Amino acid sequence: MEFKNNKNNRRNFLKEAGITIGAGLFFMPLFQFFVSCEHQEPIEAKNKELIVDLNQYPALGEVGKFQKITENNIPIVIIRKSQTEFLVLSLICTHQGCEVDLPDINNTLNCFCHNSKFSVLDGSVINGPDDGSNISSLKKFENNFDSKTNQIKIIF
Ligand code: FES
Repeated sequence: MEFKNNKNNRRNFLKEAGITIGAGLFFMPLFQFFVSCEHQEPIEAKNKELIVDLNQYPALGEVGKFQKITENNIPIVIIRKSQTEFLVLSLICTHQGCEVDLPDINNTLNCFCHNSKFSVLDGSVINGPDDGSNISSLKKFENNFDSKTNQIKIIF
């Protein structure tokens, strides 16, 4: 009797182990897919609005100043271009997804992963990466400034 129970236990164990291994073989490629995507740009919510109250960011009170914020895991920089205009750029490098540094004294946004440089004026490429590949400008986000409320609405 006890021998039979052991046999059944062993059979159940092998059956469950087979299911576990099978599930592992099925899900492993999915897991590898997600791990290999860690340097790609995060998936963004489309048509989502972000309201930024400038009263909370005194740096943006002056033309030429900028502020970094992170929304939906996307680091962005808001740059005040005039009393009524703002430029909002993604800080995700269009080469391989590293985070680009904030504007430096030369008015460039530098990505030190492979030395790309972008213009603070419009996010365009000044210098591409070391590997010589062509890359696109930093992503620009549409925005509207409301001077009455002193808020910017950014469209993601
Ligand atoms: S990821 Fe920015 S230059 Fe390569």
